[in-house]
Amino acid sequence: MVSRAAIGVFDSGLGGISVVRQLRHDLPHETVLYFGDSANAPYGKKTPEQVRELSFGIVQRFVDQGVKAVVIACNTATSAAVDALREAYDIPIVGMEPALKPACDRGNGAAQRIIVAATTLTLHEPKFKRLMARFSNQHTIYSQPCPDLVEILEHNQLDDHNLVMHTLHKYFDQYNLDAIDSVVLGCTHFPFFREYFREVLPERTAIIDGNAGTAHHVKVILESLGELAPEDATGSAELHNSNTSEREAALERSLLER
Ligand code: DGL
Repeated sequence: MVSRAAIGVFDSGLGGISVVRQLRHDLPHETVLYFGDSANAPYGKKTPEQVRELSFGIVQRFVDQGVKAVVIACNTATSAAVDALREAYDIPIVGMEPALKPACDRGNGAAQRIIVAATTLTLHEPKFKRLMARFSNQHTIYSQPCPDLVEILEHNQLDDHNLVMHTLHKYFDQYNLDAIDSVVLGCTHFPFFREYFREVLPERTAIIDGNAGTAHHVKVILESLGELAPEDATGSAELHNSNTSEREAALERSLLER
């Protein structure tokens, strides 16, 4: 069995496009319907209740459009809303959480020193606290909120090298980076800053995001349901945003093609 229905993917804004890129690469036959909620970004500074309400609105629209699955391409919305969404809807809802396990596994049993960079809301929610609790006996884990990176991407300032470097130094100079094994990019906006992170971090420090793991998870779920797109389907990504300006649409397209 196969399904030609689309996969709905959403984020608070532009960050989820990093996940769309991964899905296009790993599941090229799928049709992806993306919704960025830039008019309401950042979610990371909202209350969990506000984020839940916005997430429900978006998922309901996807369901009305007949999607076969939803990917919450946002760690923040996942922490605030994934459980409630799964209870309310029958279709698969794939969430994202900071890729802490792969970062710990890199040590092959040896204790790791890891910085998790994410939004303030993600780092304060019980979901992340539970994830930390699973690994913090054996490993040293630092939580670092990086809210300004979200704003920089949303305001189309990704190419402002001075601004981005200044922001990264503001967050990371407090650490002895030579002793850090991995930095986990626990927000889907952050993979767009990967080269800047590389400039700031020592060569030996790994930079880990959850995008490939998420795409793999989507594949496994659709496969198990017999709902992958057929191999003769061309696949595409359709991008929408709650900020309906032409400028925003152009920014979305440029991030997808970057
Ligand atoms: N991209 C989102 C995430 O993965 C959050 C950005 C925001 O604060 O809106 O957490």
